[in-house]
Parts: sequence; C-alpha cells; structure tokens
Amino acid sequence: MNFAIVGCGVIAETHGKALKMLEAEGCKLYAVCDIVQEKAEKFAEKYGVGVIYYDDESVMQDSNIDVICVCVPSGTHGLICKMAAQAGKHIICEKPMEINEQKMAEITNVVEKSGIKMQCVFQRRLMPTAQAVKQLICENKLGKICLAEAQLKYYRDQAYYDSAGWRGTWKQDGGGALMNQGVHGVDLIFWMLDKEIDTLYGKAETLARKIEVEDTATALIQMKDRSLCVIQSATTAYPGFSTTFSVYGEKGTVIFNDSGILEWTFIDKENQPPRPEGNIEIGGSKSNIDITIDGHIILLRDLKEAIIQNRAPMIPPQDAQLAVKVICSIYQSSKTGKVIQF
Ligand SMILES: NC(=O)c1ccc[n+]([C@@H]2O[C@H](COP(=O)([O-])OP(=O)(O)OC[C@H]3O[C@@H](n4cnc5c(N)ncnc54)[C@H](O)[C@@H]3O)[C@@H](O)[C@H]2O)c1
Repeated sequence: MNFAIVGCGVIAETHGKALKMLEAEGCKLYAVCDIVQEKAEKFAEKYGVGVIYYDDESVMQDSNIDVICVCVPSGTHGLICKMAAQAGKHIICEKPMEINEQKMAEITNVVEKSGIKMQCVFQRRLMPTAQAVKQLICENKLGKICLAEAQLKYYRDQAYYDSAGWRGTWKQDGGGALMNQGVHGVDLIFWMLDKEIDTLYGKAETLARKIEVEDTATALIQMKDRSLCVIQSATTAYPGFSTTFSVYGEKGTVIFNDSGILEWTFIDKENQPPRPEGNIEIGGSKSNIDITIDGHIILLRDLKEAIIQNRAPMIPPQDAQLAVKVICSIYQSSKTGKVIQF
C-alpha cells in the first residue's frame, strides 16, 4: 500500500518513522509533498523517497498513491482531506480533524459519499491505561462518577509559536493551548467518560505569549447526569507536565498520566480490577518534537487493515469531532461570559 505524506514539517517525521517501521507489513512511504520545495526535498532525502510533489493537485492525480497522510496546518486539513477523498484516496488525518464544526461536517460528508476510509489521529486513545479506564467506566466498576479532571499543562515558548507562521493563529491553528495541544486530552476524557455534555463555562486567556489565541484556559463542564468535569489547559506551565487524567467514582478512583498509573484504588479491595499492563509513552508536554511513534504505528496499521478488510478504522471522522466542538464552545463561553448549553 503506497502512502504519501502531505506537509513535511514536525509531525510528518512521526508519520515517516512509523511508516518505516511498517514497511515489512506492506506500507510504503511512496511520495511526499510540501508547498515549500526545500522542505519536501530534505524530507524525501531523509526517508529515501523518490517521488516528490510541490502542489496538492499533483499528489491527488498520482494513481499509485493509496493513502494520504494529512500533516499540514490544522486549518488546511479540510482542503486536503476533501481533495483526497474526491480522488478516491484513503486518509489518515492529524489532530484536530479541522478547527470548527462546519469544516469537520464537510469532511465527513465527502468521506461518506466517496466511500474511502479515514483514520483520525488521537493517539492517546491507544494508551493501555486509557483503554482500561474506559472499560472500567463502561462496566460501572468505579460506581457513580461525580467528578473528572483533565490537566493539560504543556510548555511552549515564544520561539515555538514563531517557528511557523500558522501557529497561534485563529485561521490556521483554530485556537491555542486547547485547540492545538489540549485537544488530545479533551478528546480522551470525554471518550473515556462516554457521557453526554449538558452545559459548559470556560475562560481562555492570552497571558504570556504574543499570539492571537489563548495560552491558558480552564473550563467547567456539567454532564446531563449533573456530574462535573474540570479541564485545565496551558502552554505556559514551565517546564511542561505529563498530561494527567482523574476519574473519581463512588466505588473507586483512577488517576493516570502519560507515564503510567498514579492512583488505582477501589472500595472492594478483594475484587480490585487488575492494573493494565504496559504503556505507550506519547510525549509532547515539554516540546513539540518529542512525540513518540507508538500510537501512530497502531493507527496506520489499523487503517491499512481497515482498507483491506473493508471495515471502519478505529477512529473514523464521525468519532473524532467532540473535542473540537467542546473547545469551540469554551471559546464562545469565554468571549460572551455566558454558560453555553451544549
Ligand atoms: N498527533 C500529534 O501529537 C501532533 C503533534 C504535532 C502536530 N500535530 C498536527 O499536525 C499538523 C501539522 O503540524 P506541524 O507541527 O507538523 O506543522 P509544521 O508547520 O511543522 O508543518 C506543516 C507543513 O505543511 C506544509 N504545508 C502547508 N500547507 C500545505 C499544503 N497546502 N500542501 C502541502 N504542504 C503544505 C508547510 O510548508 C509545513 O512544512 C497540525 O494540524 C498539528 O496539530 C499533531
């Protein structure tokens, strides 16, 4: 299966390395594309890729390409995804799928009509602990969950925002600490909880960086069952902390971060569910260049198998939209000072 990476920047490296690992399983990094010629050429040389494009139309016309890895700035994901789907190419799209509800709906529409497979990247969902917590919640092992927290305290200095023109802009980043970095954790907490949101109140501020979007934000979210969830998100928390998720239930509490479990406590000590084994480190809290490839390998492999087996991939576009909708509502709440009915 031939893959083409569109957008040869930071996250393209993760796709490039993951595809190298999957070469023996039949995934080939066949082509690369970047509108900046030098970036495309440097990347192609590093990964030994012979086919290089400098415009998106030409990639889509290459009939040898089966899958497009969408690694362009967030506000351009929709454009590339729609072109790919219309050209009959399968897609793996970086997070966030797009930066607002309308653009996500447009992608989903085109993907559904064209019948291609699309995988969205939310690699934290692949962490064994996150999967175990989702299962615990689903089986009611934590009892009634009254409170949950996602602490998403990243550090990105001004040089990070200055490193590419689209970073920290409303038009292409779609937001800041929440939409770029925090979107992973917002996705994860609601994916695990699997509860419907009722209302939310948020504050998003630009306190320390020279950017249009927020560098620090918090939100209080109430679920339809009246339980509460708190989100704290920042790129101003030096030196950047492992993202931490807490789920407090009447029969048990689980707290974990990217490195492992911090609390695994149940009222029924005799029948305590076993701790999940293994972990995949995700990285990214201190810098945008320390993101690991483990999650991407799983998502790329799953997409390949979904194409062969003609089934839905693990994270189809229909299942990747909630976090962006929540974040847009937090921005709306912060702007208006009002509680938003979700
Ligand atoms: N999954 C993760 O953990 C993770 C981590 C980092 C970034 N990302 C996401 O990946 C995306 C890219 O981020 P990045 O940090 O790699 O950005 P980047 O600026 O380093 O790279 C983007 C590249 O896309 C190129 N580009 C722009 N428009 C293009 C077009 N129309 N066609 C072809 N190339 C084009 C740019 O020239 C640049 O080289 C963002 O959506 C970001 O949110 C995901």
